[in-house]
Amino acid sequence: MAAVNEMTRLLRLLFEVEREFLRTVTTLVYRVGKPELKYLICQHAWESAGHARFLRERGRELTTFGTHENVSENIRKIFIEAVGNTNSDPMVLVAGYYEVLKPALLAAYQHYLKVTDHLADWPSKKLVEEFINDEQRHLVEIAPFLQGIEAREWQLHLTQALDDLGGWLGQKIRLPLSANYVWQQEKMPYAHPATCNRGKYPVCSGVFGFDPTEDPIVRPWLTDPKTDARVIRLMVYVWLMMEMDAIDYLATVFIETPNAPFDLHFDLTRHLWDESRHSQFGYRQLPKFGVDLMTLEHSLDLYNILIQMPPHERYAMMTMEFEAGSFPAKAHVMDRVRELNDFEADTLLAFDRNDEQNHVRYGHRWLPEMMAQFGEKRPVEEFVKATQEKFKQVAEIYGGKTPHSLPKAKRLTAEKILRLALSN
Ligand SMILES: [Fe+2]
Ligand SMILES: [Fe+2]
Repeated sequence: MAAVNEMTRLLRLLFEVEREFLRTVTTLVYRVGKPELKYLICQHAWESAGHARFLRERGRELTTFGTHENVSENIRKIFIEAVGNTNSDPMVLVAGYYEVLKPALLAAYQHYLKVTDHLADWPSKKLVEEFINDEQRHLVEIAPFLQGIEAREWQLHLTQALDDLGGWLGQKIRLPLSANYVWQQEKMPYAHPATCNRGKYPVCSGVFGFDPTEDPIVRPWLTDPKTDARVIRLMVYVWLMMEMDAIDYLATVFIETPNAPFDLHFDLTRHLWDESRHSQFGYRQLPKFGVDLMTLEHSLDLYNILIQMPPHERYAMMTMEFEAGSFPAKAHVMDRVRELNDFEADTLLAFDRNDEQNHVRYGHRWLPEMMAQFGEKRPVEEFVKATQEKFKQVAEIYGGKTPHSLPKAKRLTAEKILRLALSN
Protein backbone atom coordinates (compact mmCIF):
# COMPACT_ATOMS: atom_id res chain seq x y z
CA MET A 1 0.00 0.00 0.00
CA ALA A 2 3.04 2.29 -0.01
CA ALA A 3 2.00 3.98 -3.25
CA VAL A 4 -1.49 4.72 -1.95
CA ASN A 5 -0.17 5.92 1.37
CA GLU A 6 2.24 8.31 -0.27
CA MET A 7 -0.42 9.90 -2.48
CA THR A 8 -2.81 10.09 0.46
CA ARG A 9 -0.18 11.92 2.46
CA LEU A 10 0.03 14.53 -0.30
CA LEU A 11 -3.76 14.86 -0.53
CA ARG A 12 -3.86 15.39 3.19
CA LEU A 13 -1.31 18.23 2.95
CA LEU A 14 -3.25 19.83 0.10
CA PHE A 15 -6.43 19.66 2.17
CA GLU A 16 -4.68 21.35 5.06
CA VAL A 17 -3.23 24.09 2.87
CA GLU A 18 -6.61 24.89 1.28
CA ARG A 19 -8.30 24.85 4.65
CA GLU A 20 -5.78 27.17 6.22
CA PHE A 21 -5.77 29.42 3.16
CA LEU A 22 -9.46 30.22 3.50
CA ARG A 23 -9.19 30.51 7.26
CA THR A 24 -6.58 33.25 7.00
CA VAL A 25 -7.05 34.96 3.62
CA THR A 26 -10.42 36.10 4.94
CA THR A 27 -8.56 38.54 7.23
CA LEU A 28 -7.78 40.55 4.11
CA VAL A 29 -11.43 41.13 3.26
CA TYR A 30 -12.03 43.93 5.78
CA ARG A 31 -8.50 45.30 5.50
CA VAL A 32 -8.48 46.04 1.78
CA GLY A 33 -10.50 49.00 0.54
CA LYS A 34 -11.67 48.11 -2.98
CA PRO A 35 -15.10 46.49 -3.13
CA GLU A 36 -14.16 44.39 -6.17
CA LEU A 37 -11.12 43.06 -4.35
CA LYS A 38 -13.21 42.16 -1.29
CA TYR A 39 -15.64 40.34 -3.58
CA LEU A 40 -12.86 38.48 -5.33
CA ILE A 41 -11.22 37.30 -2.12
CA CYS A 42 -14.60 36.02 -0.91
CA GLN A 43 -15.02 34.12 -4.17
CA HIS A 44 -11.56 32.59 -3.95
CA ALA A 45 -12.10 31.60 -0.33
CA TRP A 46 -15.29 29.85 -1.40
CA GLU A 47 -13.59 28.02 -4.26
CA SER A 48 -10.84 27.03 -1.89
CA ALA A 49 -13.43 25.60 0.50
CA GLY A 50 -14.74 23.54 -2.42
CA HIS A 51 -11.25 22.22 -3.14
CA ALA A 52 -10.76 21.29 0.50
CA ARG A 53 -14.09 19.50 0.65
CA PHE A 54 -13.42 17.41 -2.46
CA LEU A 55 -9.93 16.61 -1.23
CA ARG A 56 -11.37 15.44 2.06
CA GLU A 57 -13.97 13.35 0.30
CA ARG A 58 -11.40 11.72 -1.93
CA GLY A 59 -9.02 11.36 0.99
CA ARG A 60 -11.61 9.50 3.00
CA GLU A 61 -11.73 6.83 0.30
CA LEU A 62 -8.09 6.17 1.05
CA THR A 63 -7.14 4.41 4.24
CA THR A 64 -4.51 6.68 5.75
CA PHE A 65 -6.07 10.12 5.21
CA GLY A 66 -7.11 10.35 8.87
CA THR A 67 -10.42 11.31 10.40
CA HIS A 68 -9.36 14.51 12.17
CA GLU A 69 -9.35 17.89 10.40
CA ASN A 70 -6.47 19.61 12.16
CA VAL A 71 -3.81 21.48 10.28
CA SER A 72 -0.14 20.69 10.93
CA GLU A 73 1.70 23.30 12.92
CA ASN A 74 4.31 24.03 10.22
CA ILE A 75 1.63 24.79 7.62
CA ARG A 76 -0.40 26.85 10.03
CA LYS A 77 2.61 28.90 11.05
CA ILE A 78 3.22 30.12 7.50
CA PHE A 79 -0.40 31.15 7.01
CA ILE A 80 -0.45 32.97 10.33
CA GLU A 81 2.69 34.76 9.22
CA ALA A 82 0.99 35.76 5.97
CA VAL A 83 -1.81 37.44 7.91
CA GLY A 84 0.62 40.13 9.10
CA ASN A 85 -0.39 42.56 11.80
CA THR A 86 -1.75 46.08 12.32
CA ASN A 87 1.36 47.61 10.82
CA SER A 88 1.11 45.67 7.58
CA ASP A 89 0.06 47.22 4.29
CA PRO A 90 -2.93 45.06 3.32
CA MET A 91 -2.02 45.15 -0.38
CA VAL A 92 1.44 43.81 0.42
CA LEU A 93 -0.28 40.99 2.29
CA VAL A 94 -2.46 40.30 -0.75
CA ALA A 95 0.75 40.07 -2.79
CA GLY A 96 2.14 37.61 -0.23
CA TYR A 97 -0.83 35.33 -0.64
CA TYR A 98 -1.11 35.58 -4.40
CA GLU A 99 2.51 35.86 -5.45
CA VAL A 100 3.98 33.34 -3.01
CA LEU A 101 1.52 31.07 -1.22
CA LYS A 102 -0.99 30.51 -4.03
CA PRO A 103 1.62 29.91 -6.77
CA ALA A 104 3.21 27.42 -4.37
CA LEU A 105 -0.16 25.69 -4.07
CA LEU A 106 -0.46 25.59 -7.84
CA ALA A 107 3.03 24.07 -8.00
CA ALA A 108 1.99 21.52 -5.39
CA TYR A 109 -1.02 20.44 -7.44
CA GLN A 110 1.15 20.22 -10.55
CA HIS A 111 3.61 18.07 -8.63
CA TYR A 112 0.80 15.79 -7.53
CA LEU A 113 -0.31 15.33 -11.11
CA LYS A 114 3.25 14.53 -12.15
CA VAL A 115 3.92 11.87 -9.53
CA THR A 116 0.62 10.06 -9.33
CA ASP A 117 -0.49 7.19 -11.56
CA HIS A 118 -3.13 8.54 -13.90
CA LEU A 119 -5.04 5.30 -14.23
CA ALA A 120 -4.82 3.96 -10.70
CA ASP A 121 -5.46 7.33 -9.06
CA TRP A 122 -7.85 8.70 -11.69
CA PRO A 123 -10.37 10.08 -9.16
CA SER A 124 -7.71 12.32 -7.58
CA LYS A 125 -6.25 13.22 -10.95
CA LYS A 126 -9.59 14.58 -12.20
CA LEU A 127 -9.97 16.77 -9.14
CA VAL A 128 -6.43 18.05 -9.25
CA GLU A 129 -6.73 18.95 -12.93
CA GLU A 130 -9.81 21.03 -12.09
CA PHE A 131 -8.06 22.71 -9.18
CA ILE A 132 -5.05 23.60 -11.31
CA ASN A 133 -7.39 25.43 -13.68
CA ASP A 134 -8.95 27.26 -10.76
CA GLU A 135 -5.60 28.23 -9.26
CA GLN A 136 -4.37 29.54 -12.59
CA ARG A 137 -7.55 31.57 -13.03
CA HIS A 138 -7.25 32.98 -9.50
CA LEU A 139 -3.82 34.34 -10.34
CA VAL A 140 -5.17 35.96 -13.50
CA GLU A 141 -8.14 37.43 -11.65
CA ILE A 142 -6.02 38.99 -8.92
CA ALA A 143 -3.35 40.39 -11.26
CA PRO A 144 -5.00 43.78 -11.98
CA PHE A 145 -5.17 44.52 -8.25
CA LEU A 146 -1.49 43.81 -7.74
CA GLN A 147 -0.21 46.07 -10.47
CA GLY A 148 2.27 48.52 -9.03
CA ILE A 149 2.30 46.92 -5.57
CA GLU A 150 5.88 46.73 -4.33
CA ALA A 151 6.11 43.69 -2.06
CA ARG A 152 9.46 42.06 -2.79
CA GLU A 153 10.68 42.15 0.79
CA TRP A 154 7.52 40.48 2.11
CA GLN A 155 7.53 37.95 -0.70
CA LEU A 156 11.10 37.02 0.15
CA HIS A 157 10.14 36.70 3.81
CA LEU A 158 7.31 34.25 3.03
CA THR A 159 9.34 32.43 0.39
CA GLN A 160 12.02 31.69 2.99
CA ALA A 161 9.45 30.26 5.38
CA LEU A 162 8.05 28.07 2.61
CA ASP A 163 11.50 26.99 1.40
CA ASP A 164 12.15 25.69 4.88
CA LEU A 165 9.39 23.12 4.19
CA GLY A 166 10.57 22.50 0.65
CA GLY A 167 7.23 23.73 -0.74
CA TRP A 168 3.79 22.75 0.54
CA LEU A 169 4.39 19.09 -0.22
CA GLY A 170 8.07 19.02 0.70
CA GLN A 171 8.63 18.22 -2.96
CA LYS A 172 11.64 20.48 -3.34
CA ILE A 173 15.02 20.47 -1.62
CA ARG A 174 14.64 22.15 1.74
CA LEU A 175 16.46 25.40 2.42
CA PRO A 176 16.53 25.63 6.20
CA LEU A 177 15.74 29.01 7.73
CA SER A 178 18.73 31.11 8.62
CA ALA A 179 19.37 31.71 12.30
CA ASN A 180 18.44 35.39 12.03
CA TYR A 181 15.00 34.82 10.46
CA VAL A 182 12.43 36.69 12.53
CA TRP A 183 8.83 35.48 12.56
CA GLN A 184 6.66 38.59 12.62
CA GLN A 185 3.90 36.74 14.48
CA GLU A 186 6.25 36.32 17.43
CA LYS A 187 7.08 40.03 17.52
CA MET A 188 3.53 41.28 17.08
CA PRO A 189 0.54 38.96 16.79
CA TYR A 190 -2.39 39.75 14.55
CA ALA A 191 -5.36 41.71 15.94
CA HIS A 192 -8.53 42.89 14.16
CA PRO A 193 -8.60 46.55 13.13
CA ALA A 194 -11.15 48.62 15.06
CA THR A 195 -12.80 49.62 11.80
CA CYS A 196 -13.00 48.23 8.28
CA ASN A 197 -11.39 49.69 5.20
CA ARG A 198 -13.59 51.14 2.44
CA GLY A 199 -10.84 52.75 0.41
CA LYS A 200 -11.79 55.85 -1.51
CA TYR A 201 -15.49 55.65 -0.66
CA PRO A 202 -17.25 58.06 1.68
CA VAL A 203 -18.45 56.56 4.97
CA CYS A 204 -21.01 57.15 7.69
CA SER A 205 -22.45 55.33 10.70
CA GLY A 206 -25.64 53.98 9.10
CA VAL A 207 -27.75 54.24 5.94
CA PHE A 208 -31.17 53.56 7.49
CA GLY A 209 -33.02 56.50 8.98
CA PHE A 210 -36.14 58.61 9.01
CA ASP A 211 -35.07 61.90 7.48
CA PRO A 212 -35.12 61.93 3.65
CA THR A 213 -32.69 64.84 3.56
CA GLU A 214 -30.16 62.89 5.67
CA ASP A 215 -30.20 59.17 4.87
CA PRO A 216 -30.60 57.09 1.72
CA ILE A 217 -33.08 54.57 3.13
CA VAL A 218 -36.09 55.97 4.96
CA ARG A 219 -37.64 53.05 6.82
CA PRO A 220 -41.30 54.12 6.67
CA TRP A 221 -41.03 54.70 2.92
CA LEU A 222 -40.28 51.01 2.39
CA THR A 223 -43.67 50.03 3.79
CA ASP A 224 -45.72 53.07 2.77
CA PRO A 225 -48.04 51.94 -0.07
CA LYS A 226 -47.79 55.47 -1.53
CA THR A 227 -44.05 55.12 -2.17
CA ASP A 228 -43.32 54.67 -5.86
CA ALA A 229 -41.96 51.17 -6.53
CA ARG A 230 -39.01 52.66 -8.44
CA VAL A 231 -37.93 54.39 -5.23
CA ILE A 232 -38.14 51.11 -3.34
CA ARG A 233 -36.07 49.39 -6.00
CA LEU A 234 -33.25 51.91 -5.62
CA MET A 235 -33.43 51.75 -1.84
CA VAL A 236 -33.21 48.00 -1.80
CA TYR A 237 -30.15 48.17 -4.07
CA VAL A 238 -28.54 50.49 -1.53
CA TRP A 239 -29.54 48.05 1.18
CA LEU A 240 -28.02 45.12 -0.75
CA MET A 241 -24.82 46.95 -1.51
CA MET A 242 -24.43 47.74 2.19
CA GLU A 243 -24.33 44.02 2.91
CA MET A 244 -20.67 44.83 2.47
CA ASP A 245 -20.76 45.28 6.23
CA ALA A 246 -21.85 41.64 6.58
CA ILE A 247 -18.88 40.63 4.42
CA ASP A 248 -16.50 42.60 6.57
CA TYR A 249 -17.66 41.43 9.98
CA LEU A 250 -18.35 37.82 9.01
CA ALA A 251 -14.85 37.56 7.56
CA THR A 252 -13.41 38.30 11.02
CA VAL A 253 -14.71 35.05 12.48
CA PHE A 254 -12.46 32.56 10.66
CA ILE A 255 -9.12 33.52 12.15
CA GLU A 256 -10.58 33.36 15.64
CA THR A 257 -11.92 29.84 15.29
CA PRO A 258 -8.79 27.78 14.61
CA ASN A 259 -10.31 24.61 16.05
CA ALA A 260 -13.70 24.74 14.36
CA PRO A 261 -14.74 21.71 12.31
CA PHE A 262 -14.09 22.15 8.60
CA ASP A 263 -17.80 21.95 7.78
CA LEU A 264 -18.40 25.03 9.90
CA HIS A 265 -15.82 26.99 7.93
CA PHE A 266 -17.20 25.54 4.72
CA ASP A 267 -20.68 26.90 5.41
CA LEU A 268 -19.29 30.16 6.73
CA THR A 269 -17.31 30.63 3.54
CA ARG A 270 -20.44 30.00 1.52
CA HIS A 271 -22.24 32.55 3.68
CA LEU A 272 -19.44 35.04 3.08
CA TRP A 273 -19.48 34.55 -0.67
CA ASP A 274 -23.29 34.85 -0.77
CA GLU A 275 -23.08 38.21 1.00
CA SER A 276 -20.41 39.34 -1.41
CA ARG A 277 -22.77 38.55 -4.31
CA HIS A 278 -25.64 40.34 -2.61
CA SER A 279 -23.47 43.40 -2.17
CA GLN A 280 -22.47 43.16 -5.82
CA PHE A 281 -26.14 43.24 -6.82
CA GLY A 282 -26.30 46.79 -5.50
CA TYR A 283 -22.80 47.74 -6.55
CA ARG A 284 -23.53 46.83 -10.18
CA GLN A 285 -27.16 47.94 -10.45
CA LEU A 286 -26.99 51.35 -8.78
CA PRO A 287 -24.80 53.00 -11.43
CA LYS A 288 -27.20 51.73 -14.11
CA PHE A 289 -29.85 53.91 -12.48
CA GLY A 290 -27.62 56.94 -12.46
CA VAL A 291 -26.26 56.67 -8.93
CA ASP A 292 -22.71 57.96 -8.58
CA LEU A 293 -21.19 55.52 -6.09
CA MET A 294 -18.86 58.22 -4.84
CA THR A 295 -21.93 59.93 -3.33
CA LEU A 296 -23.12 56.82 -1.48
CA GLU A 297 -21.68 56.66 2.01
CA HIS A 298 -20.80 53.23 3.39
CA SER A 299 -22.17 52.33 6.79
CA LEU A 300 -19.53 51.22 9.29
CA ASP A 301 -21.57 50.81 12.46
CA LEU A 302 -22.17 47.08 12.33
CA TYR A 303 -18.49 46.25 11.93
CA ASN A 304 -17.43 48.81 14.52
CA ILE A 305 -19.88 47.48 17.09
CA LEU A 306 -19.62 43.76 16.42
CA ILE A 307 -15.82 43.74 16.42
CA GLN A 308 -16.04 44.67 20.09
CA MET A 309 -17.91 41.42 20.76
CA PRO A 310 -16.48 37.87 20.58
CA PRO A 311 -17.00 35.82 17.38
CA HIS A 312 -19.85 33.62 18.61
CA GLU A 313 -21.78 36.74 19.63
CA ARG A 314 -21.10 38.33 16.23
CA TYR A 315 -22.40 35.22 14.54
CA ALA A 316 -25.44 35.07 16.82
CA MET A 317 -26.38 38.67 16.01
CA MET A 318 -25.90 38.10 12.33
CA THR A 319 -27.94 34.94 11.90
CA MET A 320 -30.46 35.11 14.74
CA GLU A 321 -31.16 38.81 14.72
CA PHE A 322 -30.28 40.60 11.48
CA GLU A 323 -30.97 37.80 9.03
CA ALA A 324 -33.80 36.04 10.81
CA GLY A 325 -35.45 39.44 11.31
CA SER A 326 -35.10 40.68 7.73
CA PHE A 327 -37.71 38.47 6.01
CA PRO A 328 -40.93 40.43 6.54
CA ALA A 329 -39.44 43.71 5.27
CA LYS A 330 -37.72 42.02 2.33
CA ALA A 331 -40.90 40.12 1.39
CA HIS A 332 -42.79 43.39 1.25
CA VAL A 333 -40.05 45.00 -0.83
CA MET A 334 -40.14 42.06 -3.25
CA ASP A 335 -43.89 42.44 -3.71
CA ARG A 336 -43.54 46.11 -4.49
CA VAL A 337 -40.63 45.66 -6.89
CA ARG A 338 -42.63 43.04 -8.80
CA GLU A 339 -44.96 45.85 -9.93
CA LEU A 340 -42.13 47.11 -12.13
CA ASN A 341 -41.86 44.01 -14.31
CA ASP A 342 -38.11 44.29 -13.86
CA PHE A 343 -37.06 40.69 -14.37
CA GLU A 344 -33.49 41.35 -13.29
CA ALA A 345 -34.49 43.01 -10.02
CA ASP A 346 -36.96 40.20 -9.27
CA THR A 347 -34.30 37.61 -9.93
CA LEU A 348 -31.69 39.26 -7.73
CA LEU A 349 -34.15 39.64 -4.87
CA ALA A 350 -35.39 36.07 -5.21
CA PHE A 351 -31.86 34.67 -4.99
CA ASP A 352 -31.08 36.97 -2.11
CA ARG A 353 -34.07 35.64 -0.24
CA ASN A 354 -33.20 32.04 -0.98
CA ASP A 355 -29.61 32.57 0.22
CA GLU A 356 -30.78 34.32 3.38
CA GLN A 357 -32.96 31.35 4.27
CA ASN A 358 -29.86 29.17 4.08
CA HIS A 359 -27.93 31.59 6.26
CA VAL A 360 -30.49 31.30 9.03
CA ARG A 361 -30.27 27.52 8.65
CA TYR A 362 -26.49 27.70 8.99
CA GLY A 363 -27.04 29.77 12.11
CA HIS A 364 -29.20 27.10 13.70
CA ARG A 365 -26.69 24.44 12.78
CA TRP A 366 -23.48 26.21 13.78
CA LEU A 367 -24.27 28.64 16.55
CA PRO A 368 -24.22 25.88 19.21
CA GLU A 369 -20.87 24.65 17.86
CA MET A 370 -19.51 28.20 17.77
CA MET A 371 -20.67 28.70 21.37
CA ALA A 372 -18.90 25.49 22.37
CA GLN A 373 -15.68 26.81 20.79
CA PHE A 374 -15.81 29.68 23.27
CA GLY A 375 -16.95 27.71 26.29
CA GLU A 376 -20.44 29.25 26.24
CA LYS A 377 -22.72 26.87 28.13
CA ARG A 378 -26.04 28.71 28.37
CA PRO A 379 -28.95 27.39 26.32
CA VAL A 380 -28.92 28.91 22.83
CA GLU A 381 -32.09 30.92 23.33
CA GLU A 382 -30.87 32.44 26.56
CA PHE A 383 -27.51 33.23 25.00
CA VAL A 384 -29.11 34.92 21.98
CA LYS A 385 -31.33 37.07 24.21
CA ALA A 386 -28.41 38.12 26.35
CA THR A 387 -26.36 38.87 23.24
CA GLN A 388 -29.10 41.07 21.80
CA GLU A 389 -29.06 43.06 25.03
CA LYS A 390 -25.30 43.26 25.03
CA PHE A 391 -25.33 44.47 21.43
CA LYS A 392 -27.51 47.42 22.44
CA GLN A 393 -25.08 48.37 25.17
CA VAL A 394 -22.02 48.03 22.96
CA ALA A 395 -23.82 50.05 20.27
CA GLU A 396 -24.24 52.88 22.79
CA ILE A 397 -20.48 53.09 23.12
CA TYR A 398 -19.17 52.18 19.67
CA GLY A 399 -22.12 52.97 17.40
CA GLY A 400 -22.88 56.28 15.71
CA LYS A 401 -19.26 57.40 15.93
CA THR A 402 -18.52 57.65 12.22
CA PRO A 403 -19.34 61.15 11.00
CA HIS A 404 -20.66 61.68 7.46
CA SER A 405 -17.82 62.05 4.98
CA LEU A 406 -20.05 64.18 2.79
CA PRO A 407 -22.31 67.17 3.48
CA LYS A 408 -26.05 66.59 2.88
CA ALA A 409 -25.91 68.41 -0.43
CA LYS A 410 -23.31 66.01 -1.82
CA ARG A 411 -24.39 62.64 -0.41
CA LEU A 412 -27.02 60.28 -1.75
CA THR A 413 -30.15 60.76 0.36
CA ALA A 414 -33.70 59.48 0.03
CA GLU A 415 -34.69 62.81 -1.42
CA LYS A 416 -32.17 62.37 -4.23
CA ILE A 417 -33.18 58.76 -4.68
CA LEU A 418 -36.74 59.96 -5.16
CA ARG A 419 -35.66 62.40 -7.86
CA LEU A 420 -33.46 59.85 -9.62
CA ALA A 421 -36.05 57.09 -9.44
CA LEU A 422 -38.80 59.15 -10.96
CA SER A 423 -36.58 60.22 -13.82
CA ASN A 424 -35.75 56.59 -14.68
FE1 LIG B 1 -27.36 38.94 2.20
FE1 LIG C 1 -27.20 36.69 4.77
